[in-house]
Amino acid sequence: MIVDRLGRRFRNLRVSLTAACNYACTYCVPDGKRLLKAQNELPANELLKAVKLLQQATGIDKVRITGGEPLVTPKFDEFLLGVMDLPLSDVSLTTNGQLLMKKKDVIRESGLRRINISLDTLNPLRFKQIARGGDLETVLQGLDAMLELGLKVKINMVPVRSQNINDVVPMLDYCLERGIELRFIELMRMGHLLHSSGFANDFVSMEALLDVIGSKYEFERTDAPYDSTAVRYQIPEAGVFGVIANESEPFCKACTRLRLASDGFLYGCLSSSNKHDIGSLLELPSHRLLPKLQGILVQALGDKKLAFEGEVTVMKLIGG
Ligand code: 5AD
Repeated sequence: MIVDRLGRRFRNLRVSLTAACNYACTYCVPDGKRLLKAQNELPANELLKAVKLLQQATGIDKVRITGGEPLVTPKFDEFLLGVMDLPLSDVSLTTNGQLLMKKKDVIRESGLRRINISLDTLNPLRFKQIARGGDLETVLQGLDAMLELGLKVKINMVPVRSQNINDVVPMLDYCLERGIELRFIELMRMGHLLHSSGFANDFVSMEALLDVIGSKYEFERTDAPYDSTAVRYQIPEAGVFGVIANESEPFCKACTRLRLASDGFLYGCLSSSNKHDIGSLLELPSHRLLPKLQGILVQALGDKKLAFEGEVTVMKLIGG
C-alpha cells in the first residue's frame, strides 16, 4: 500500500467528468470572463477504466462525481451507472442542481444514495449575481425531487462577506426544516482569488460564521471521523451543520483524497499544480500499466502539502 510519513494514503477519489459548467460563480470565474472550453476530455468508458485501475492500485473505496458541473455532460449517465456497479463502499455526487430534474430517472435507476448540492443563497436575485447562470427555482425543484427519491442531501454554501453573509441564517433555517445537512465552505484562494485584493474582506472565517449563526441558534461541536473535511456542529433538537474550515482548521494532515480530472490527469493535492497523466496509459496491457500507475501514485501522494497554500488551478477543473 502507498502511504506517506504522516500515514496518509488515498481512499477517496474525486472524478471530474468535465470542466464545463453552466454557472460562472463569482468565486470561481473572474468577472467578465468565461473560462476556456473543456478540452481533450476522456469519454465515460475511459474514466471508468481509470477508476477501476485506481481501485486496484490503491485502497480507494469511495468515489465522488464532480465537475465542472457533472450533469452538463452526456457521459454522466453512463459514468454514474458504471461507477455504481463497482464494489465501492460509497458513491456520491456534487452538483449545482440545475439539471437534477432532467437526471432524476437515471439517478433513481442507478441507486445513488447521496448527493451534495452547491447553493449559496435562497434569494433569486442574489442567486443570479453569484452563479451568473441558471435559476434558483429550478435548483429547489431538483432538490425536492432528490429528497422524494429518498437520497441523503447535503448543501454546500460558500459564505462570501460582500455577497451572501445575510443568507447564512435563512439557508440554515431552510436546511434544518428539511433534515438537510448544510456545509459552509470557507472561501479558498484558488484560481483568480489567489491574487485577489478583495479576498481578505470577503473571507468569512469559521469563527465569524459561528458568530452569525449564534445570533439565532445554540450549537455544540461534535466529533468527526479521522479523514473528514468538515467540523460538525449539533443544534439540539434541530439538526446538524458542518464547516469545511480549510483555513481555520486545516485537514491536510489527514487528507485521503485523490483527484482525477476529465482530461485524464491525476492531482494528489488541491494546493499543488502538479498533475500526472494517466489517460495516455489506459491502453497499455495491465502488467505494464499497473507498475507505472503505482509509480505515479507515489509521486501524487508526494504532492500532498501540510497546509493549503493557495493555488492557481481553478476549482472548475478539479471540482473541489
Ligand atoms: N472556495 C471555496 N469553495 C469553492 N467552491 C468553488 N470554488 C471555491 C472556492 N474558491 C465550491 C463550490 C462547490 C464545491 C465543489 O466547491 O461552491 O460547492
